[in-house]
Amino acid sequence: MKSNEIRKRFLEFFEKRNHSIIPSAPLVPENDPSVLFNTAGMQPLAPFLLGEKHSAGARLADAQKCVRTNDIDEVGDNTHFTFFEMLGNWSLGDYFKNKAIEYSFEFLTSKEEGLGLDPKRLYVTVFEGDENAPKDEEAYKKWKEIFENTGLNPDERIFWMSANSNWWAAGDNGPCGPDSEMFYDRTENGLGGLTKEEFIQADDRQDVVEIWNDVFMEFLKKDRKVVGKLDQQNIDTGAGLERLTAILQNKKSPYETDLFENELKILEKESGKKYQDFQKDFRIILDHLRTSTFLISDGVFPSNKDQGYILRRLLRRVVVRIKNIEFQNEKVLEIVKSYIQKYSEIYPNLKEKEDLILDEIQKEIQKFEKTLTAGLKEFQKIIKTSNEISGELAFKLFASYGFPLELIIEGAEKNGFVVDVKGFEEKMKEHTEKSKTASAGKFKGGLGGDSPKIVAFHTATHLLLAALKKNVGEYVSQKGSNITEERARFDFNNPEKVQKEVQEKIENWINEVIEKGVEVKVEEMPKVEAEKDLSINGSFWEKYPDVVKVWTIEKDGEIFSKELCNGPHVKNTKELVDFGKVKIKKEESSSAGVRRIKLVFEK
Ligand code: ALA
Repeated sequence: MKSNEIRKRFLEFFEKRNHSIIPSAPLVPENDPSVLFNTAGMQPLAPFLLGEKHSAGARLADAQKCVRTNDIDEVGDNTHFTFFEMLGNWSLGDYFKNKAIEYSFEFLTSKEEGLGLDPKRLYVTVFEGDENAPKDEEAYKKWKEIFENTGLNPDERIFWMSANSNWWAAGDNGPCGPDSEMFYDRTENGLGGLTKEEFIQADDRQDVVEIWNDVFMEFLKKDRKVVGKLDQQNIDTGAGLERLTAILQNKKSPYETDLFENELKILEKESGKKYQDFQKDFRIILDHLRTSTFLISDGVFPSNKDQGYILRRLLRRVVVRIKNIEFQNEKVLEIVKSYIQKYSEIYPNLKEKEDLILDEIQKEIQKFEKTLTAGLKEFQKIIKTSNEISGELAFKLFASYGFPLELIIEGAEKNGFVVDVKGFEEKMKEHTEKSKTASAGKFKGGLGGDSPKIVAFHTATHLLLAALKKNVGEYVSQKGSNITEERARFDFNNPEKVQKEVQEKIENWINEVIEKGVEVKVEEMPKVEAEKDLSINGSFWEKYPDVVKVWTIEKDGEIFSKELCNGPHVKNTKELVDFGKVKIKKEESSSAGVRRIKLVFEK
């Protein structure tokens, strides 16, 4: 059974049983800044589990895109992925344990409407009880009935487990509850009935694998403690599509199923290498490119912060791996296109954003390839002369070549070396302190103090530069700046006077951005990398340390300004409103080819 067929069957099965099919939420949670990505189907639905009414009703089913990166280092083995789809059916205060278990068993075993799995290969676990909730007799009773009706001995199929494995919660706060997990025996001849001990051993060997989890969500957790019952009893289930596909296609790993078939072929064809010989490289490339494709479709772009940094790391790891198998980086896009093609029917925004996805991946890969080539040379030099990568050398690779620490460690391990990680961290700290002091001294002249008004002026000059570039010409760059409590003085290259009406346009644009209330964000990155990024405005690069700060004024994906600078800046442009409207007081010549603007706030 193809992966598309499994997903389709799942959704149709529940649709027939009065569930509304809802689309997957985007990978980046919409109202939850505490997590970077949706890591389970229940996350975007948490408010509804807590009692809010869902517009599609009380019975839902979906395939939810998930990204989990805590196991990123495990990717490459049989079971770990950074992206996966979770199939789930939901009852929001509608049916509860009995019905949920019935549905699960029916879908797993029905040949007509479900997956047609052999019940003799199924085992389940139920919650044994603790101080938070009693032994789950109800779930046990239902499973017992089901196994007995199938002619199987419940004692060899149902196992009581502790909260460690059979209590589900998304985090320290929110809905939670005991669960019942279903396992499938994937050995060639089938293990038959098992004792609890044998079952646990089979699980350790991955002879039996968990394929579905029914969570009975009726409790509430606050600050890590279960504090009581919810107003309604909910069902939250999760079945990993990747794993189900591997089982139904009788493969050891999802990488060997139709989910990756075409992409794997492209890798083999273009590299001339065999998957069997370079399994880890192949798997990492396949996984990370798929995740990157989905992340960009959901509005994540490579950066040095949060979700963007994860994406950047994924793509960098791809670059390292494609080098290992001598795969041309131009061909990477063929793999991405293949994913887009495969998934577009279910996730249409992939097709809509195809150009953007290809463009972002290509740009990031090319950028990092350059860095990597230079860094690898340096790395080779280093390992010729030492048998340990000192903190200082690791820091140099990081700061001067944009090498992420994890790649330094990986490269070192491959050569039988260790990296002095502690030393690296110390260097990093030392360095941050040093730049702090340096910038305090260096920018004294330009920025006389850091009163709120001066900081506001400082952010205003970033907007001024952006507005000049927009209205006068892209060639404009900063030649100098000086700020006092009264005004900001800003020098820039331009052969002629900026006309009055252009000045007005500039003022209007800046004031509009201020009124919009746009966030001002800062990220740190190696200077070599920032210099290559043409979207970053910067002058006097030579004055900056190896790790620089880049300030972005951005709202809803629209970037108003992105500039190299030591700060400080306001957190949001709306803080400038208090000082009045920005006004160009004077525009005059400063020296040959350089103009000077005096900017004030007027109430
Ligand atoms: N929320 C449950 C899980 O993610 C279904 O496993």
